Amino acid sequence: MADEAPASTLVIFGAGGDLTKRLLVPALYNLSHAHRLPDDFRAIGVDHSSGDDAGFRKDLGSFLHSLASDPTSEFGKGKIDPKAWDWLAQRLSYQVADFNDQGSFRALAKRLEGAKGIVFYLAVSPQFFAPVVEQLAKAGLTRQSEDAPRRVVVEKPFGYDLKSAQALNARLLAVLQEDQIYRIDHFLGKETVRNIMVARFGNGVLEPLWSRLHIDSVQITAAETIGVEERGGYYDKAGALRDMVPNHLFQLLAMVAMEPPNSFDAEAVRAEHGRALEAIRVYSPREALANSARGQYGAGKVGGEEMVAYRDSPKVDPKSHTETFVALKLWLDNWRWSGVPFYLRTGKAMSAHDTNITVQFKAAPGILFRTAEAGPTGPNLMVLRIQPREGISLHFEAKRPGPEIRPAQVKLEFCYADYFKMAPATGYETLLYDCLIGDHTLFMRAQDVEAAWRAVTPFLEAWAEKASAPTPYAAGQDGPASAQELLACDGRRWRPIGA
Ligand code: BG6
Repeated sequence: MADEAPASTLVIFGAGGDLTKRLLVPALYNLSHAHRLPDDFRAIGVDHSSGDDAGFRKDLGSFLHSLASDPTSEFGKGKIDPKAWDWLAQRLSYQVADFNDQGSFRALAKRLEGAKGIVFYLAVSPQFFAPVVEQLAKAGLTRQSEDAPRRVVVEKPFGYDLKSAQALNARLLAVLQEDQIYRIDHFLGKETVRNIMVARFGNGVLEPLWSRLHIDSVQITAAETIGVEERGGYYDKAGALRDMVPNHLFQLLAMVAMEPPNSFDAEAVRAEHGRALEAIRVYSPREALANSARGQYGAGKVGGEEMVAYRDSPKVDPKSHTETFVALKLWLDNWRWSGVPFYLRTGKAMSAHDTNITVQFKAAPGILFRTAEAGPTGPNLMVLRIQPREGISLHFEAKRPGPEIRPAQVKLEFCYADYFKMAPATGYETLLYDCLIGDHTLFMRAQDVEAAWRAVTPFLEAWAEKASAPTPYAAGQDGPASAQELLACDGRRWRPIGA
């Protein structure tokens, strides 16, 4: 990040929600601490419950302090700098509003009179996305001019399937220009995800290898140790596929697979990113079944702690067929990736927290290593570790010391933390800052969201038609055996989680 953002007001709908206190306000605090917000910055929290400015500031302040002392939170370690917090707190205010009542929006418009740039952040439940935007438009709040832009940030889930995503796009685009819409995916705010472009396009040693000519297959994993926790109401309707695949995992896939853009300009990057998503083969429901595995966790132990079965979690149907784990095999039908399978998996209640992309290279000719015990011990791998222990490692063969030639797999490792001082970050800092300065690079276009849904719809349809339960796996295990079989029948295996 470079300069201070221009004069702007951030209006957060859903100010009383979890996202606001857990991620958005901590990210604003980090931006304030890094002097990235302008002196005339303001943030107005809007929600339906009663409250006032002082109470709003006090609640957010104490929550921020509790996050700072909780090493497991996204916000992480560290002390709160009282100067940076006071600076921000003075600029926070609260407005009570009914999202269905035009009077609330007229009152908001009054409060925003004279504001320069305004960013409206929809941190609300998805059924309010379109209604809030329509109310904003009716109150004249989406009309913009060159020095007074009006932008709207839409959180996930952007739709529930292709049809609902198309319908949401249509409703938003009826009152907004496409360039006013920021469809956010917090994975794109992660340093390690943006680093994929630098790793691929900034290194002569990698660039020539990055295609079907040298790459055998790609694995993308997002394994979480947490269960569904208190989110059963949402998750039981969504499931692992909707929750993670067309958004977060596809962002990783697009970063790995996209063609080099002509520049780092927003439109150049988004065009290539979008083309990669469009290249994902759209299966028939039958192909979708054959190329997927799904699971649901039962009771078990994760990290030594007992975890109740998914079906026994709050607000989850005790007979639920919702998957908490999914593995897919996908193809990209384009020149670069023809014939290279992309294996994706994500799940909750797994043995370790591990988000990574593992690129498996083709084997060298084996003619020199004729006997099994003298042969290479595994494929060459490049592992892009998104979280935790952010970094990149390269796994390759080396000779074991001794008179015989016997290879062993070794690894070269780059860890972010060894080279760079990583400022605490929630992942939302860059994205919020980009909304304030009007940089679209890391946000989805309408057609990107639709391309992603198009690719996952056959899985949803096939599972709905089959109406069978996902295969059980015990909490603390890495998904059902069917996920292993998906690769085993291709003569490959998943890289162990947490390795
Ligand atoms: C969210 C999903 O979008 O991403 C959650 O709804 C998931 O279910 C989370 O846990 C993962 O994000 P991160 O940044 O914690 O890896």
